Amino acid sequence: MAENKALPRNVGIIMDGNGRWAKRRLLPRSAGHDAGMKRIIKLVKHVRQTGIKYLTLYALSTENLARPKEELEGLYSLFRMYFEKYAPQLTAENSAVSVIGDLSALPQDVAEKMRTACARSPQNPDFTLVFAVNYGSRAEIVRAANFAAELGGNMTEQSFAKLLYTADIPDPDLIIRTGGELRLSNFLLWQSAYAELYFTDVLFPDFTAQRFDKAIEEFSRRSRRFGKV
Ligand code: IPE
Ligand code: IPE
Ligand code: MG
Repeated sequence: MAENKALPRNVGIIMDGNGRWAKRRLLPRSAGHDAGMKRIIKLVKHVRQTGIKYLTLYALSTENLARPKEELEGLYSLFRMYFEKYAPQLTAENSAVSVIGDLSALPQDVAEKMRTACARSPQNPDFTLVFAVNYGSRAEIVRAANFAAELGGNMTEQSFAKLLYTADIPDPDLIIRTGGELRLSNFLLWQSAYAELYFTDVLFPDFTAQRFDKAIEEFSRRSRRFGKV
């Protein structure tokens, strides 16, 4: 594991490749999502031990809502299971759970379970797990712009950022994408202005703690200049 000095505060993961993982095994896509959920459970346990304070997981994009109903139902069942069984374990151990995105389009009971877990989170957590669900950066920015218009007056970068879903969450220092695609797919576009990007061909269900550590090690070797010399 890398030295503490270069630890990112918030790591975002675009968890891609579940469908291909299943296809390679001649399994239905849902089996890939099940495997992805098992991976999330292991990764969260690991990341909490590293000293990284925030982990932001892209679980469902606004665009993903156009996927077939059966696939979405499978994902909703996984969310139900996670927020019923695993989120309470986290909050009991002084970790917080948070959700960013538009929950109004989700089945009501799923949204309710998410809200409950967030509400039960401790005030001063050691670690915060953020799920991006029915999340899209463009929708988030337009929503914030509408709030800004209602408020009137001029916005600064700081005051605008407070209108985003991520108002209380630090910008990601590192964004990891599994699954081999080289794009952000509408994830944290505003917040990632100065994020380091790390792409791996590894499919998300195969993204082990060891592979996560490799990304952190590479991050620690990057030179972040933020425009300066
Ligand atoms: C990412 O895996 C998980 C979600 C979008 C919910 P995919 O389902 O996109 O997997 P691939 O890209 O088809 O392999
Ligand atoms: C990005 O994966 C969204 C999530 C991981 C939740 P997609 O599979 O939806 O992205 P594209 O379609 O390849 O850009
Ligand atoms: Mg994909």
